[in-house]
This record gives sequence, C-alpha cells and structure tokens, in this order.
Amino acid sequence: MPLWKRRRKEEEEAGEKEERAEEQEEEEEERKSITEELESEEAKAEEVEIYGDYAALGIDLGTMNTVVARPSEEEFHVKQFPSVVAVKKGTDKVLAIGEEARKMLGRTPEDIVAVRPLRHGVIESMEYAKFIVQYAIEVGSDNNPDEVERVAVGVPGDASEVERRAIKEATVEVGIDESNVIVIQEALAAAIGAGLPIAEPTGTMVIDIGAGSTDIAVISLGGITDQETMRVGGDDIDQNIVELVEEEYGVRIGIHEAERAKIEVGRVFTETEDLEDKEIEVVGKDVETNKPKEITIDSELVAKAAEPVVQEIIRAIRRILDRLPAELVPGVYDNTVLVGGTSLMPGLQARIEEETDIPAELADDPMTVVAKGAAIVAAEPRTLEPEVRLRALK
Ligand SMILES: Nc1ncnc2c1ncn2[C@@H]1O[C@H](COP(=O)(O)OP(=O)(O)OP(=O)(O)O)[C@@H](O)[C@H]1O
Ligand SMILES: [Mg+2]
Repeated sequence: MPLWKRRRKEEEEAGEKEERAEEQEEEEEERKSITEELESEEAKAEEVEIYGDYAALGIDLGTMNTVVARPSEEEFHVKQFPSVVAVKKGTDKVLAIGEEARKMLGRTPEDIVAVRPLRHGVIESMEYAKFIVQYAIEVGSDNNPDEVERVAVGVPGDASEVERRAIKEATVEVGIDESNVIVIQEALAAAIGAGLPIAEPTGTMVIDIGAGSTDIAVISLGGITDQETMRVGGDDIDQNIVELVEEEYGVRIGIHEAERAKIEVGRVFTETEDLEDKEIEVVGKDVETNKPKEITIDSELVAKAAEPVVQEIIRAIRRILDRLPAELVPGVYDNTVLVGGTSLMPGLQARIEEETDIPAELADDPMTVVAKGAAIVAAEPRTLEPEVRLRALK
C-alpha cells in the first residue's frame, strides 16, 4: 500500500479517538509550537525524521554478511544473512540466498552454483550482488519492498564508479526512485552507526576489520579526511589456519572448520592482556592417507595464523598516524572505534593500543554498525551535511 494511502487509513482509524483528545491536543500543540519557536534553526536540523515504518533502510553489503537495518522509533530492526547466492547453473534462476545458499558453498552438486559475489570487499559479480541487495530490501522491509522510500548502501572507500552504479541499478529495479538511493562510504556509515561525533572538527577514527577487507578512516567535519583500505580480514586468518594446520599436522581442513576454530578458541598475540588458552577438536583429511583425521587446534595456532593480518592492520594504522595533523590527534585519541566481525578477536584491541597508543573502543554489536549508520542516513540524508549535528539513534 502506498505511504499516502496507509497514512490516510491510519488517520481514519484514529479519527474517533482524535476527536475526544482534540482539546487536549490543541493545548499540547500550542505548547509545542512555543517551544519550537524558541529552538534555533540548527537545533531543528538535528531532528532525524522517519517517515514510515519501512521508509528507510540501511544496507551493509559485506564480503561475508549482509546486514540490513531499519530505524523504528528509538531502536533499529536489524537482520543479517550470509552474502551468498545459489543459482541453477547456466541460468539466472536463483535457488537460494543467505544461510541456505551458504550451506551449499563448496558442496554443491553439478547443476547448482553457490557464489559469494564479493571478494575482499570488492563486488566480483555485479549480477549476483544485485540479487543480494534486492533480497536485503525484501528482508529488511518484512516483504514490503513497495513501502521502502529511501535506501542507503555502504560501500568500501575505494569502490569504483561501476560498483556504485550496479548497487543503484539493483535498488532502482526494486522500484525505489534513483534520487532516493544513497551510496555511502562504509567508514562514514560505521562512524555514524557507532555514534561518533563525526561533525566535530576535532576528528574521530574508525577501524573496520571485516571478513575480506579492513578500512581505516579519519573523519572530521562530517567527511573522510584520510583513509586506508586493505584487502585483508578474517577470511585471510581462516585461510592461514588451513595452511598452518596442513603444515603442522599434515591434515587438510575445510575453511568453515577453520573459521569455527578461530571464533571458538582464537586470540591474537598481546603482551598486556592475559588470555586463556583454549582447544578445539577439528576433523580434516590426512594428506598422505586421504583418511579422516581428528586434530586439536589451540589458541596459539590461531594467534600465529592471525599474526600477518594483525601486523598489516597495525602498519596501516601507523601510516594514518604518520599523516595525521596535530589538530586531529586529541579527537582521534579520544574517539577511535573498532568495528567489523574480526575486531571481536580477543586481544586485538589491546594489541592495537600496545603498538599505536590509540585506546580504540570496541563498538557495541560491531557487525551491525555500518548498516545502522546507513539507516540513519537513509532516514535523514542531511546527516551527511557537515553543519548538521548528529543526534545518533541508539
Ligand atoms: N567472535 C569472533 N571472533 C573472531 N572473528 C569473528 C567473530 N565473529 C565473526 N568473526 C569474523 O568476522 C568476519 C565477518 O565480519 P563482518 O560481518 O564485519 O565482515 P563483512 O562486512 O562481511 O566483510 P567486509 O567488510 O570485509 O566486506 C568473518 O571473517 C568472521 O569469521
Ligand atoms: Mg564490512
């Protein structure tokens, strides 16, 4: 149902009640308008307007997960699914998207292909990425895509014009007006979603460590002033675990098993945090005999596998700090957040502080902040204007 129709219906239903409450409301209105007059223009611009239940959606199209957030009253409705599409081979018939398709990865029969359209944060297959964006709009609107008025999609800092276009096209195909599609840099969305004071001239920093990429960005006066985008993340840690296990035990394990071990017993090397060592049993294939073999993976092995990735991230933070103007140092010192799933690795936050002296704070729910920030922008595109002070929805 179009928004205007829905509004009218709601108005009719509320009609009777309204009559009764009319007098009280008039008084209330009068008080409100007086208060409003007293408010400055700037304060008015701070208001985050939300037009309807499904009107605004924020999407984080990630290498591993796609997250879609919808602002509603004082909170967000967030949904998440793996960025995987399964299609019938040789056709564009979609068989499954999300969790169901993920289970088919690497295990598909000949007539089905399951693909992750993004690799290292970059869209590799536009066609499949479009299905993901469209599915996100469907899921995010509880199957009411017609009611979606504005969509903001987060993309990596170095996304090409072709990628941006593809995302716009996918959204327009669902029926959303092109002028209502906002393609926003992920780092900016993350900062907004984490409630950082992006509009301040003092500076803030976001470190987004995802599955396929890591984005580090300095933000001041509502814009990105410096950025490093690297094609490393949690996926590389998983791959390194597979290689290390093969080297040390002569056993080849699947990438899903490697990821499970990373999440359950993983940590990174740190001198300041005392982390418990844990173990997990994993079954793989003995490379000599080809027979199944159970091995034990411990936290130390995961830390070894993570080390090259950790070092690369730290080098990038140092490069950013080398270039950081002194004016932005206090802001960055006080307001740096860590987001993205890989930032959940125990010890990583401590290690970053040890090596860079930046006390980065781990965002609440670090895998959803990009989508939440994008949703805030979709609800109120003026959020991106530097002069608008953000009243972050929490
Ligand atoms: N508790 C955890 N400990 C360590 N790693 C984790 C944990 N939870 C999730 N991860 C890892 O986080 C990554 C997914 O994070 P996220 O959803 O932020 O990535 P993405 O947005 O899909 O990727 P990108 O931003 O690179 O495109 C995966 O590599 C996953 O294994
Ligand atoms: Mg991401």
